Amino acid sequence: MKRLGVNIDHIATVRNARGENHPDPFHAALQVVKMGADSVTIHLREDRRHINDLDAKKICQTKKILVNLEISMNDKIVNNALKIKPNYICIVPENRKEVTTEGGLNLIKNKKKLSKIIERFKKVKIRTSLFINPTLKDIKLSKELNADCVEIHTGKISNLVKLKKKYNSELNRIRKCSILAKKFNIEVHAGHGLDYKTTKILSKINEIEEFNIGHFIIGESIFIGLSSVIKKFKKIIKN
Ligand code: PXP
Repeated sequence: MKRLGVNIDHIATVRNARGENHPDPFHAALQVVKMGADSVTIHLREDRRHINDLDAKKICQTKKILVNLEISMNDKIVNNALKIKPNYICIVPENRKEVTTEGGLNLIKNKKKLSKIIERFKKVKIRTSLFINPTLKDIKLSKELNADCVEIHTGKISNLVKLKKKYNSELNRIRKCSILAKKFNIEVHAGHGLDYKTTKILSKINEIEEFNIGHFIIGESIFIGLSSVIKKFKKIIKN
């Protein structure tokens, strides 16, 4: 059964717009799980533009939810993550000027560093995931790096679908990568830019076990409510 991880970063974005406490990401984390999410994703960015240290600590401390913490390779962030002990980590590239995570990691350039980071998390039994572009080369490198999971960046296919352009070759690329990863015993996740339509298309790939979705869920909840959006996604990914 495929799982849904709900990224609640943008609950913090709304909270931060007023500099007060509402809406509270900790409360949101508990609520989305009650509404059917299998896990909660948060990204503790170096610039703390949405989730902050206290949010991350509180959310990771509660045993009621499974937390996937997205982090960059920054030493301070890595040390912080090891202290707050999420259930899972997903290593992502981070660029101060980007609006959101624009692409997957450069595994070749960062191989040594990533290998050390993965080893540290695996030692304390935290599931490790690498956010990568859908290339067979990156799947092979993820295997060499001993990652437990890969999260395939779905930004490109999401844009093609939204623009009503041909997306079959990107879909095939994602499918081939998913099959190879599964063969290597690496769990496959997908995330970035997903809405109902792209999630439905990708849910036909059997090897994808987890979807991590944020912006669309929070945006759509303005119109139909968080609980209804989560239920719709759960129905879409159930196949
Ligand atoms: N997965 C990863 C690794 C991400 O960095 C992000 C964006 O922060 C997401 C999933 C969620 O993307 P979106 O907000 O576009 O659904």
